[in-house]
Amino acid sequence: MEIIRTIKEMQNLSKKLSSKGVVIGCVPTMGYLHEGHLNLIRKAKEISDFVVMTLFVNPKQFGPNEDFERYPRDFDRDYKLAENAGCDLIFAPDIIEMYPIGFSTSVEIQNITSKFEGERRPGHFDGVALVVAKLFNAVKPDIAVFGQKDYQQTQVIKQLVRDLNFDVKIVVAPTVREADGLAMSSRNTYLTPELREKANVLFNALEDGIKAIEGGCRERKVINAIMHKRLRTVPEIKIDYACAALAENLDEPDVFLAGDHVVLLIACYLGTTRLIDNALVTIPKTNVSKK
Ligand code: PAF
Repeated sequence: MEIIRTIKEMQNLSKKLSSKGVVIGCVPTMGYLHEGHLNLIRKAKEISDFVVMTLFVNPKQFGPNEDFERYPRDFDRDYKLAENAGCDLIFAPDIIEMYPIGFSTSVEIQNITSKFEGERRPGHFDGVALVVAKLFNAVKPDIAVFGQKDYQQTQVIKQLVRDLNFDVKIVVAPTVREADGLAMSSRNTYLTPELREKANVLFNALEDGIKAIEGGCRERKVINAIMHKRLRTVPEIKIDYACAALAENLDEPDVFLAGDHVVLLIACYLGTTRLIDNALVTIPKTNVSKK
């Protein structure tokens, strides 16, 4: 499997492939691959001819007190895993290649970024939008595959693609989970064994929220309270948010209506590790109760 480290080389190869009618699939990552990433590579392989995984730990999407420095990195391990999953090429630029001296451009996406992760991590989605725009301009993919695990990020990227006319189809693949339900994440490696055992409480809280909705609950605050109640069963947890919102635009009506697509979003700290998770559910058309 080839490795490309410069934007120019990447662009030249992509132009050559596209001129031959090769459909390019892209899987943007920050490395330290787990089964979730490998699933994205496999999905990209299914729907494209040539899969480029990008590997770049993007400093611009980390806040000053976040984990950029200690974010786990292991290129050799990533190389082997990506190759086995069917990746054709890794595009792994360094920081100077992506942000040379004099780099002066920013990308700011409004509205969809104003709450949840966007509110708690100021500048995070601007950094994501900027790097994804740059990666798309380097790789020139026809299709790009992202994980549902970062639900708000997928909405931000769809907005970016619409607003800036990127000719890329965005595909979102379902979250891959550990046997106990914990969503796979490179940051799970930060958890102590004791906290790891309790980390599936996020998944259990999402399940409780879904059950409540399927049982007829329509009131947003009640659904939120049900998720909070489950999360609080773990004393070490600090809840950042556990909220139900409309999946399309993250609006938060007091009451959801039959047919609404709802996303349940959770972010919390377990010790010093910040975990996020989400689930999608459609409000059933029948069975309204006053739960
Ligand atoms: O989801 C991630 O790993 C990152 O946010 C992304 C999309 C690769 C941009 O750096």
